[in-house]
Amino acid sequence: MSKSFYVTTPIFYVNDAPHIGHAYTEVASDVLTRWHRQRGENTFLLTGTDEHGEKVLRSALGNHVSPKEWTDKLVTESWLPLLETIDIDNQDFIRTTEPRHKVAVQKFLQQLYDGGFIYQGSFEGNYCVGCEEYKNDGDLVLGTLEFAGVKVCAIHSKPVEQLNETNYFFKLSDFQQRLLDHYEQNPTFIQPESARNEVISFVRSGLSDLSISRSKERFDWGIDIPWDQNHITYVWFDALLNYITAIGYGVDDEKLNSLWPADVQVVGKDILRFHAVIWPAMLMAAELLPPKQVFGHGWLLVGGEKMSKSKLTGIAPTQITDIFGSDAFRYYFMKAIGFGSDGSFSWEDLSARYNSELANGFGNLASRTIAMVNRYFDGVVQAPGEYLEADLRVQRVAIEAVTGAEAAIDKVAIHDAIAKSWLLVDELNSYITQQEPWVLAKQESNNERLATVLYTALEGLRVLATLLNPITPKACKKLWGAIGESIGELDSQSVTNAASWGQLAPGVKLGELEALFPRVEEQ
Ligand code: MSP
Repeated sequence: MSKSFYVTTPIFYVNDAPHIGHAYTEVASDVLTRWHRQRGENTFLLTGTDEHGEKVLRSALGNHVSPKEWTDKLVTESWLPLLETIDIDNQDFIRTTEPRHKVAVQKFLQQLYDGGFIYQGSFEGNYCVGCEEYKNDGDLVLGTLEFAGVKVCAIHSKPVEQLNETNYFFKLSDFQQRLLDHYEQNPTFIQPESARNEVISFVRSGLSDLSISRSKERFDWGIDIPWDQNHITYVWFDALLNYITAIGYGVDDEKLNSLWPADVQVVGKDILRFHAVIWPAMLMAAELLPPKQVFGHGWLLVGGEKMSKSKLTGIAPTQITDIFGSDAFRYYFMKAIGFGSDGSFSWEDLSARYNSELANGFGNLASRTIAMVNRYFDGVVQAPGEYLEADLRVQRVAIEAVTGAEAAIDKVAIHDAIAKSWLLVDELNSYITQQEPWVLAKQESNNERLATVLYTALEGLRVLATLLNPITPKACKKLWGAIGESIGELDSQSVTNAASWGQLAPGVKLGELEALFPRVEEQ
């Protein structure tokens, strides 16, 4: 079996319902996967939920239900529906409470224990339940308002808890040099560059061993340590393993080898160290390869801080999709925020981009072109005549858009892939304005020129439908329904060959076009 392009999202804590920050990670991962699929690669997108640990347990107890009832409810009522809301085409969804995960986690732990990578010790430190992580002094800041004068977690702005426990440790410190060598030999392993530099200097400053179990005397919502029934597995150690337990680790080597190592693991920058330091070390200990790339994206900010439910700044994805639809959600967040940088969401910016870029820029281009083919040629695609310089220019811009977008995707610069694709949207709009097909249509003698202009515009739309399908799949399917059905399925159109001109066959009758981005009433 040939290796598939394997993309993962982080698995989400089910302490609460999703907000647009979570949806952001999902959309980026989905866009990458769809793009690679349209390169003709086999692809696999994994997402899921992180259900153990104190954070989830406390929210269940706070809601007066058992953690199992709580996680079942949130997964069915909030997290699975999120995938529909933002149109995620994932191949699997793993819950860490599933038997397939638990069994494989225990197998992995046992392998590391037998290999001498785990020992018993005691530890004292500051723990942030929000992050599910021990914090160094450098990770704490002085609190404000109700926590003024107290040291709090820099991410959650809440005080940390003093923990003192005897538990099991993973010999993370043994891997310092191997990790540094790995970063050096694989310069794109951690991206973007700023994230890579941050991780390298963190690892250079020295690694402590990692506490990977919790005593059941405190709580028992987790996976049992296989050799000691009094301990459960630390939630991050359990969670990171989802990336391999979902694809057959310990039970199906063929499947594992067809997917692992993952090609891109998309994570928010807050959880980069777990993925770029602890995770590859765990894999090295188990004699598995690290993923090919970990990409740490930025945060959606509110008032300069990371958007979060606990700070009551979370916006539900449906608040946006109910008005603008999933395509606009996907387009907006992928285009407006450089992937890898932080960014803020604004209703004004979303609404302005929806109108100018999607509805007027792309949607109108499609509806005008198809309306003209209907009006002047009864909806039948005409054979083009001789191409003039303006037509050839459109063909050149199409090549530039495809080549540029492809190169951007290789760098996981999704915003740039959209910007490059938009060169063609803009070019086609000015081409139509300049060629004035409505003027050509007034004289029968211009018929061949009119046919060439409209064929060029239709071909341009075909390229756009192919290129933008990973970003705005619903709109592109509508467009394809009108222009491309005779060529084949849109999802199997190659992005790489999209600009090779002349794929629409003359003589084909166009289908009906539904508005790609319907007008949104002012609210
Ligand atoms: N459960 C862990 C991940 C385990 S992966 C083995 C976790 N869960 S989370 O639900 O808190 O966050 C999941 C993802 O959502 C992270 O990548 C995080 O960065 C992302 N986001 C949460 N809030 C966000 C923003 N405000 N902006 C962008 N992404 C954000 O961490």
